[in-house]
Amino acid sequence: MTEKQTWSQRFESALHPAIARFNASISFDIELIEYDITGSQAHAKMLAHTGIISPEEGEQLVTGLEQVRQEYRQRKFQPGIDAEDVHFAVEKRLTEIVGDVGKKLHTARSRNDQVGTDTRLYLRDQIQQIRQYLREFQTVLLDIAEQHVETLIPGYTHLQRAQPVSLAHHLLAYFQMAQRDWERLEDVYSRVNISPLGCGALAGTTFPIDRHYTAELLKFDRVYANSLDGVSDRDFAIEFLCAASLIMVHLSRLSEEVILWSSEEFRFVTLKDSCATGSSIMPQKKNPDVPELVRGKTGRVFGHLQAMLVIMKGLPLAYNKDLQEDKEGIFDSVNTVKACLEAMTILLREGLEFRTQRLAEAVTEDFSNATDVADYLAARGVPFREAYNLVGKVVKTSMAAGKLLKDLQLEEWQQLHPVFAADIYEAISPRQVVSARNSYGGTGFAQVRQALVTARTNISN
Ligand code: ARG
Repeated sequence: MTEKQTWSQRFESALHPAIARFNASISFDIELIEYDITGSQAHAKMLAHTGIISPEEGEQLVTGLEQVRQEYRQRKFQPGIDAEDVHFAVEKRLTEIVGDVGKKLHTARSRNDQVGTDTRLYLRDQIQQIRQYLREFQTVLLDIAEQHVETLIPGYTHLQRAQPVSLAHHLLAYFQMAQRDWERLEDVYSRVNISPLGCGALAGTTFPIDRHYTAELLKFDRVYANSLDGVSDRDFAIEFLCAASLIMVHLSRLSEEVILWSSEEFRFVTLKDSCATGSSIMPQKKNPDVPELVRGKTGRVFGHLQAMLVIMKGLPLAYNKDLQEDKEGIFDSVNTVKACLEAMTILLREGLEFRTQRLAEAVTEDFSNATDVADYLAARGVPFREAYNLVGKVVKTSMAAGKLLKDLQLEEWQQLHPVFAADIYEAISPRQVVSARNSYGGTGFAQVRQALVTARTNISN
């Protein structure tokens, strides 16, 4: 290293170049630069407000920092490895611009409370952006669901045909997952939005700072009550990564279904050319790369959550350099979640077509109306378990005879039990099977219509 480090006065010799590279975070924490500038401007204003520096000095710092921001945006300022990290880079450039007064910026502050402030400001913005992406994802789910209240699709448990459901009901299940994600992020936000600024290196500061003043300028809800906790807490990052992981769980489950549905075995959806790719060798293929990538990218977000937990578990108070390792996982998770939400939204909006003809056939070709026969008997006084056993026998004999329940003659039904009447055929038709499940939260059309209205109102508020 030719250039001296900011802290190098105490040191006899320069940092080994490889160690300088190893130590530096500028290659990734540059992502925080605008938040670092905003945080520093608030700090400078506070220093002037409390009389720690003069009003003119405060003004010079704020204006100088704004110039750093502009230079960065115009790509005139591109700090390199010698800056070590974004905090030093900004301070150094500021001092080049405004002269010696720039050296006053770091009064009553440490990079430890500074980096915590920057990361929170960044995450605050990103959380709101992700919530916006979630809303768009929910909107497209609703748009499709509204067109498919009466489109039936086989419902599964254990990936075995169970009972048919409304396609809208199925899609609304994902809407609800996304709704929880949206709410969860709001909750996480409340613990991201606490200011560590003014905690200093670990113990507070000898200067008469006003932490509430900077918190207010930066729109933090609260300030950390304990300086040691303030500089070393990363719970907010873990909580965010946890919320991000759950979003990925939900997207990955939907991806898995789309992948199954688009296979020749299911044939429930067709992938449109805009969202599918071909094979380099097999000319007939059209692959569901989008949902596969989403499913695949889920792993890295889980990994970042795991890494963050492990980083924290052995850390003594307060700041330790281990904490520099929080950033890449956070940034990558943010970018991954946004990219996946966007891709899935596009896939749903224009990359996917439900094959309604095929779906209509699918719900008639199995025994997924068997529960309804048992319910038919139970509603007419036969104890449910008895009815269940009776129907089990019919399913067995019908299967052996290569028939479905709808193919049985009325006499066959009546031999089984005298309460069967001609209305059994209507009771076991797929439409009726779905429509009749009108319990709250069920797939009955009336329930689904109501759920759609509630969902619409929910996201427009
Ligand atoms: N680049 C560091 C980080 O990301 C900034 C804080 C450095 N603090 C320190 N005491 N060395 O954590």
